[in-house]
Amino acid sequence: MEIITEGHSKIIYAKESPDKILVYFKDTATAFHNIKRAKIVGKGLYVNQISAILFQYLTDAGIRNHFIKLADDQSMECLKTDVLPLRVIVRNFAAGSLSSRFGIKEETPLVEPIYEMTYKSEDLDNPFMNEHIAVALGFVTYNEMTTISDIAHKANTALSQVFESCDIRLIDFKLEFGRLPGGELIIADEISPDTCRLVDIKTGRHLDKDRFRHDMGDIIEAYNTVLIRLKQWKNLI
Ligand code: TMP
Ligand code: ASP
Repeated sequence: MEIITEGHSKIIYAKESPDKILVYFKDTATAFHNIKRAKIVGKGLYVNQISAILFQYLTDAGIRNHFIKLADDQSMECLKTDVLPLRVIVRNFAAGSLSSRFGIKEETPLVEPIYEMTYKSEDLDNPFMNEHIAVALGFVTYNEMTTISDIAHKANTALSQVFESCDIRLIDFKLEFGRLPGGELIIADEISPDTCRLVDIKTGRHLDKDRFRHDMGDIIEAYNTVLIRLKQWKNLI
């Protein structure tokens, strides 16, 4: 199969149908702009399965995203989009770079969710951007920025609810957006413990990539916990 692009944690393959892609999740973990990296057997499977459940849930809730169906253990079939060169970060509790920038203790609740944007460029150290910069650089229109904010807000509400049903707190997460040939913006990339901070409400344990970032122990066992709880939640609804 023809490779369209390969990133740190994914390979995107072309499909026979030009409006579809195959997303393959690698068994690789990277952090701190690829300074820290490791092969973690099984990780691709968990990220794939967890993303699939969350994307399907968002679709059912009327929040459009690129997921079509699982293809196999480690890959999913998705709609082909033109992915915007920006990341949208949504935060419900302080953590990570917000905590370090503002000197706020990790997991401090925020009065309102924070929506941030960064420009996807490792060479430039993924600088901050805002809606005015995104419009001025020609990535989106102001109308599209409104759509992106609206989708990010709805996704936050929906995902926070699912995780809460699984006794997991959604601390923060990252979204990417892709444009369909007709112009519509939808959620792309992945939604998984690699791109969300997830904390077990009962034990306070991180069930996400912070385990890898900060050497907090096995990530497979944590990702497996997330997958099992999501599967149990799915069977209950
Ligand atoms: P941060 O605290 O490092 O800014 O990260 C906020 C959230 O966004 C966290 O859940 C991890 C996620 N994230 C990604 O998925 N990819 C990235 O490249 C970055 C910087 C953050
Ligand atoms: N995704 C980024 C990287 O792999 C940063 C992170 O998630 O810590 O470099």
